Amino acid sequence: MKVLFAASEAVPFIKTGGLADVIGSLPKSLVKQGIDVRVMLPKYEDIPAAFTERMELAATFTVQMGWRSLYCGIFKLEHEGITFYFVDNEFYFRRRGCYGYGDDAERFAFYCRAVLDAMPHIDFVPDLIHCHDWQAGMIPVLYRAHFSYQPEYAHIKTLITIHNLKYQGVFGKELFKDYFALGDEHLHGYALEIHGGASFLKGGLLYSDYITTVSPTYAEEIQTPYYGESMDGLLRSQGGRLAGIVNGIDYEEYDPMNDPHLEVRYRDSLLKKQQNKTKLQEKLGLPVNKDVPLIALVTRLVDQKGLALIDRVIADLMELDAQWVIVGTGEHRYEELFRWAASAYPDKLSAQIKFDEGLARQVYASSDLFLMPSLFEPCGIGQLIAMRYRSVPIVRETGGLKDTVTPYSEETGEGTGFTFANYNAHDMLYTINRAVTLYRDADAWSNLMSNMKKKDFSWRKSAQQYVELYENLVSSSVAHASTSTNA
Ligand code: GLC
Repeated sequence: MKVLFAASEAVPFIKTGGLADVIGSLPKSLVKQGIDVRVMLPKYEDIPAAFTERMELAATFTVQMGWRSLYCGIFKLEHEGITFYFVDNEFYFRRRGCYGYGDDAERFAFYCRAVLDAMPHIDFVPDLIHCHDWQAGMIPVLYRAHFSYQPEYAHIKTLITIHNLKYQGVFGKELFKDYFALGDEHLHGYALEIHGGASFLKGGLLYSDYITTVSPTYAEEIQTPYYGESMDGLLRSQGGRLAGIVNGIDYEEYDPMNDPHLEVRYRDSLLKKQQNKTKLQEKLGLPVNKDVPLIALVTRLVDQKGLALIDRVIADLMELDAQWVIVGTGEHRYEELFRWAASAYPDKLSAQIKFDEGLARQVYASSDLFLMPSLFEPCGIGQLIAMRYRSVPIVRETGGLKDTVTPYSEETGEGTGFTFANYNAHDMLYTINRAVTLYRDADAWSNLMSNMKKKDFSWRKSAQQYVELYENLVSSSVAHASTSTNA
């Protein structure tokens, strides 16, 4: 089975969010299950020279985009057993970062076209193209319109995975006509149109053979108005070909026994965890005390992550007998909130407003509790790494957080973390208070540690689920009829 991943970021080449972790790690697990999986990314300027220097030029050809005839190069690099392809066009991709440019529609239109147009040139015709998020969303549309009729490509199936429904790639309709050579029949309300414009993601949802998202709970949630980002009606209509497969993490990469960033390596020893904690307290200028519970947040500082709840009760949180470390960057108001808290409560909270992988690992290792009160969370990776590093998660019961953290019960001694249901600051405060109290209860804590130890959040199981899905799709000969459904 040959599978081509189309995505806009992947660790270790380029990362702005959790998507990159998935694209960097899931293929390794699929290869172990016998899938020939290759990944195609844009060739951005920010990809470190250590990688670009090793790339070889595999093909060059011309991509026709409306009236434009555009150069496209495909570079190739083997990395940890996976073949990565990089779509090259310096006008579009030789810029800092990944997104946020005025011509993003054109840049990713080019990328989508290039992924398909590359097939005849790279000697790799996949059985299935696995598209991720809006940036790859137009691939299923272009496949239907321009490739599905050609005998050598007619067997290809397409699958799209939603990593975050909030980002839909919505642009003016006239751009879609211009870049994709699509007729009006593709641009009405039962096709790409949304809010008067048109959407890359909607194209992917309607024209692909199957849709997945990154946890079963999120797959349900997005069919409701609260989480549906105005696509819930469409998703309900497609519910029969929509499923959630929870993300894993790379257990070799995230391993406290083998993590070069840690002062003291460990697997299950609380004593060694405390040694990491006191080293970190020293480093960050917090009072050194191995017995005080350390609560961590490692996150992008954006609304999605539930930071408004923390803002609401910050004074109460600082009253608790606990210390806090925050690592991350993002919206100005949240960066300011934590800077302020660090100066108002220097003995309680350290704000590290930066993206620093080494420090993040030390914080996972040193912390006792890991807070993720997200407003919504398609899957979430922080809670998985936290459990691997034996930091007990405190989460809101949404999306992947609900699917991966089981609530602790004092009665049965079962559960791997602390959870609350409503998006409410005082429910969160109550839950954190409960966690801090139970930290002092040695039996409860040792139950939590051993419950986390029993869990497996590696990719193994989820990769198996993807393989099953791929096999079902590839063996079914009937293509899904998209445009007959109600949007
Ligand atoms: C997005 C989601 C996050 C998920 C990640 C990878 O970043 O917000 O919840 O874990 O994608 O699928």
